[in-house]
Amino acid sequence: MEFHNYINGKWVNGRSTFQTINPANEELVADIAQAELADVDAAVDAATKAFKSWRLTPAPLRGEMLFKVGDILKGKKEELAQLLTRDMGKVIAEARGDVQEAIDMAYFMGGEGRRLLGYTAPVEMPNKFGMAVRDPSGVVGLITPWNFPIAVPSWKIFPALVAGNTIIWKPSPETPAISAAFVKVFEEAGIPAGVFNLIMSPNVDVAKALVNHPDVRVLSFTGSTTTGRSIAEAAGKLNKKLSLEMGGKNAIIVMDDANVELVTDATLWAAFGTTGQRCTAASRLIVQKGIASKVKESLVERTKKLKLGNGLDPTVDVGPVINKAALERIHNYVQLGQKEGARLLTGGNIAPASDIIRLSDSKSVTQSATGFFYTPTLFDGVNPGSTLEAEEIFGPVLSIIEVESLEEAIEVNNRSQYGLSTSIFTQDVNRAFMAMRDIATGLVYINHGTTGAEIQFPFGGVRGTGNGHREAGQAALEVFTEWKSIYVDYSGKLQRAQIDNREE
Ligand code: UN1
Repeated sequence: MEFHNYINGKWVNGRSTFQTINPANEELVADIAQAELADVDAAVDAATKAFKSWRLTPAPLRGEMLFKVGDILKGKKEELAQLLTRDMGKVIAEARGDVQEAIDMAYFMGGEGRRLLGYTAPVEMPNKFGMAVRDPSGVVGLITPWNFPIAVPSWKIFPALVAGNTIIWKPSPETPAISAAFVKVFEEAGIPAGVFNLIMSPNVDVAKALVNHPDVRVLSFTGSTTTGRSIAEAAGKLNKKLSLEMGGKNAIIVMDDANVELVTDATLWAAFGTTGQRCTAASRLIVQKGIASKVKESLVERTKKLKLGNGLDPTVDVGPVINKAALERIHNYVQLGQKEGARLLTGGNIAPASDIIRLSDSKSVTQSATGFFYTPTLFDGVNPGSTLEAEEIFGPVLSIIEVESLEEAIEVNNRSQYGLSTSIFTQDVNRAFMAMRDIATGLVYINHGTTGAEIQFPFGGVRGTGNGHREAGQAALEVFTEWKSIYVDYSGKLQRAQIDNREE
């Protein structure tokens, strides 16, 4: 398989290629044309030209284009999900969910084509009219991660398009095959040349060229905090609008009246779903002392039963992590946690080949290629403020912290440098409402894990997680539009605001 960059409505070859491999078995998934710096310029030029007509295409028609994309995605859901699993590793049920999230977003934002609501308000002069409308921002640059290769880009692509912007998209070089397959859907739907451009490269200078290009006025980034901060510095100097979605250290709080079975189900899903590689993954379990031993016992028993393997096998619970470097990073954190004095309850190792369910799905899979699997890991006795408790590991590692009270639980939760998602398990309505009020993260769940956001609500976080913007919901339009306030004076004479309507 081979995939290319998409610039000005054409699939473009590169001077060189790079490869994407399946993290479950290290087979080659596809060769990818590598974009050069000149391709970024060409894409921005194409997007700049296309903006002239796309901004004037009536928004309801732009919305109809998105409905078409949604329809095609529905028809290709299984095909895309299979490729997504091969490109990135998540289990097939989750890959289908990833595609479904884009379908949901296509229809939601397609509907925005007939809203994109502005407003009117009374004005202080007679025979004068005032309104505020949303203008598209122009050419936007989108940089996205590999963990949700379709869902997260769709949170940016669909609102940007319906609002009349044109796009340069640079997906993670870990998931180029599924990214190009996603862009093909837009091509099939008839997106005009230059409106949506795709640039793929593992060369960080290509991303930098996009960030620094003077004609790209808005940047939207999801990924690591380190990268996000450096983009913020560059964008700040160039006075660009920037939306950041970065790390998380999300907690599940368990009160002593919680239902242990439900807590166990929800925690396994939130901590080990997507192999812990979600920005919303639960990586801390803050549990009240009275129920702690029951919860731990139940979690250990069920964690040990989780099946690791190739995500295309529907019986597999946990897929691989994205690459070898991730495997090593996760293992380093685990070793550090042990040095810090945390107690390993289960896991803590790179999974032995005998624990991995494999599919003999490709000739290119060699016997020695084990894929990148880490055994789901639980740590007990983790101290607030320790590295294990504080840093984002982005893997299947859950730290258990014991507390005395709801107040202490919320304090430990809110002390994190990140502020994306928190959940609380309790059957006490008073505690639930106090938690809703006092938890300081962008997402709060009651009796549900920390993952599972739906696209009609704002998504994002506070403190180190974001910079005040939100994705999804109508909030996404704030990133991709500029307010324009318009005053129409039909009095035929000069009426000075704040002056000519006063007696004094
Ligand atoms: C992410 O965590 O990286 O809420 C995105 C969820 C998904 C999206 C997560 N709908 O878990």
